Amino acid sequence: MRLSTVLLAAASLVSTVQGHWLGNIPHRGFAPFAGQANYPVFRNVKDYGARGDGVTDDTAAINAAINAGNPCNRGCTSTTMTPAVVYFPAGTYLISSSILPAYFTQLVGDASSPPTLKATANFAGFGLIDGNPYYTPVLNWKSVNVFFRSIRNFVLDTTAIPPATAATGIHWPTAQATSLQNIVFNMPATADVVHVGLFIEEGSGGLLVDLTFNGGATGASMGNQQFTARNLKFNNCKTAIIQIWNWGWTYHGLSINNCRVGIDISAGGSNNKLDVGSITVFDSSFTNVPVGILTAWTPNTNPDTAGSLVMENIALSNVPVAVQGPGSSTLLAGSAGSMTIAAWANGHNYAPNSAREFSGPITPNPRPATLLSNGRYYTRSKPQYENLPASSFLSVREAGAKGDAATDDTAALQRAIDTAVAQGKVLFLDYGLYRVTNTIRIPPGAKIVGESFPVILSSGAFFNDMNNPKPVVQVGTTSGQAGQVELSDFIVSTQGPQAGAICIQWNLATSGTPSGMWDVHVRIGGFTGTQQQVAQCLKTPGNPTVNPNCIVAYMAMHVTRQASNLYMENVWLWTADHDIDDAANTQITIYTGRGIYIESENGPFWLWGTGSEHHVLYQYQLANTKNIFMGQIQTETPYFQPTPNALVPFRPVASINDPDFTASCAGVQGNCAAAWGLRVINSRDILVYGAGLYSFFDNYSTACSTFSAGQTCQQRITSIEGSATNVNIYNLNTIGTREMLNRNGAQVAWFADNVNTFASNVAVYKSN
Ligand SMILES: *[C@@H]1O[C@H](CO)[C@@H](O)[C@H](O)[C@H]1NC(C)=O
Repeated sequence: MRLSTVLLAAASLVSTVQGHWLGNIPHRGFAPFAGQANYPVFRNVKDYGARGDGVTDDTAAINAAINAGNPCNRGCTSTTMTPAVVYFPAGTYLISSSILPAYFTQLVGDASSPPTLKATANFAGFGLIDGNPYYTPVLNWKSVNVFFRSIRNFVLDTTAIPPATAATGIHWPTAQATSLQNIVFNMPATADVVHVGLFIEEGSGGLLVDLTFNGGATGASMGNQQFTARNLKFNNCKTAIIQIWNWGWTYHGLSINNCRVGIDISAGGSNNKLDVGSITVFDSSFTNVPVGILTAWTPNTNPDTAGSLVMENIALSNVPVAVQGPGSSTLLAGSAGSMTIAAWANGHNYAPNSAREFSGPITPNPRPATLLSNGRYYTRSKPQYENLPASSFLSVREAGAKGDAATDDTAALQRAIDTAVAQGKVLFLDYGLYRVTNTIRIPPGAKIVGESFPVILSSGAFFNDMNNPKPVVQVGTTSGQAGQVELSDFIVSTQGPQAGAICIQWNLATSGTPSGMWDVHVRIGGFTGTQQQVAQCLKTPGNPTVNPNCIVAYMAMHVTRQASNLYMENVWLWTADHDIDDAANTQITIYTGRGIYIESENGPFWLWGTGSEHHVLYQYQLANTKNIFMGQIQTETPYFQPTPNALVPFRPVASINDPDFTASCAGVQGNCAAAWGLRVINSRDILVYGAGLYSFFDNYSTACSTFSAGQTCQQRITSIEGSATNVNIYNLNTIGTREMLNRNGAQVAWFADNVNTFASNVAVYKSN
């Protein structure tokens, strides 16, 4: 113990000399529910004996850093109580078996000089990093419940492993609020190589961003309900991407070079039965790729809409076959020279009315210039501030906030935010649960970075009046205040009854570089500290009586009229359906009124990889707005509905355009007064590139969600109302709803006409 303390001190001394600020700042993160006074939120692998010298086997030291303080690893269901950031300074870390990160653990390399994890020649394990191991025939964590994890800034190197020996860079069957960012996969580029960079076999993601795959048999081999994948480069892979299965997948900014096949979506068994639901690919390039996309789609695909493909703005250079179908048939010819596919689709096309089986060019979306950069949709990855010194960061705990989920941190947190802005510093939100009893105001100029998803937790009477709602976190302190703000890696939540809490209210009008939210989530209920768990809010199927202590938010996020120019990436607005800290993940019934409501008059807004789930009235609602990019969006309806239905317990408020379901449900059979997945009112230039709107339950039973049961969980899920110009959706996937999309109350698409693998799919919908 004493010796390791000395080593630890010496190691920190060395690590303060250079490198990323994250390794150099003092760490004060506090996990109040870890059950240990000195639970280490932050771990520098070098403090646990890793050398990073390219010679020493660092496997045991790295896994020791991960497992310090006994976080949620092998055999554990899930947790929010033992957060961890495991930091790797620059260097080459030799590993002989898998790095096994725990639940709620972030692996973060030095962003200014990403460390290499180099596998030994005789490496043994499934994944240099195995994010969800098979200790038994089933995954350690249920893949659809793996939340709040990320890996960023690494080089994964399998080149020492013989090419013909199976090897995998990262194994990542995960769900919402997870991300892989800024990772290079280096694999052999030999003819006999069987290595795979990224392997995902199931789950419900998620974000993949800024990944480069060099060599290998397959860059990324992936199956999952949905994912948003952005800025992925593939060089000299045999096949860049194999899609094992999915419901919907959004790919933007692919750059596929010198691969034999770009994207293989032909997975499936006999009888032309396909496993891949749909993919949306746009603003991408293929160079020296004999077959751009390999599909098994035919006009007689089974099921009907499987293998739906939508492409827009695809640059080809020496791609002889752009889309190849079964039996080496050419569905879309490419060119030995250069060409651009403006827009092309196969699947069901509603543009705007009747369904038709379709394969061919479509009219590309009109793209508002305000959403673009060099002709492509604007993107910006999470800033990591790697050029700033440690002195540019102000610790919120050093500034006096406690983060213990009990102390009233309102004044201390506000003071810290204001001080950081005044001093031109980034506020470092050390891990903690910061309980606040009044609105926290984020002024222009603020930059806030969390440590492993700290929580701002509203509490008390101020936030508990549904007739007088109040923002918990208000960005821009007056309507339309000018300025720019950058927020990343934290959570906004509520504690106890909070019927009037608007978790995030965005007022800021930004010019120039957009403001941003990256990995900033709203997580309502279902974790320790909220008092909205199994003990307080256990589900009561069949009982429509509302427990007032379980009315826990008014709205997840409100983007107000004068707000503009906000970039959101990997943002999950989740009302908990189950208790993450309960060993059985028992379901709970809690009520939040609304998901995200955007009523900005002008936009622009980008929603890359966002989800909104289990809010009572709607998940996404846009009203009187324009210039909004969304892809992929994902929603779920509350599991208890229709017992009670969406009109309980929040009274619809006309001034915020709440649905009241009177007109829309008049004479309609079935569960009609159910949460809208997406509702768009009097809006224009709303461009959706991938949407998964799911309703799995009726009164806590999933029996309604299958095709054989008739998808009766709810009647309607997507509504476009009033004037609508360029309200366009690519790859709309719905589950459990009979009508897929309604225009001014009239049904446009019926589930049974558009049967896909598990969802129903409309490849192309255009409002006009
Ligand atoms: C809801 O489910 C519960 C438990 O399965 C059952 O007892 C009740 O009858 C159901 N209620 C309705 C309205 O279907």
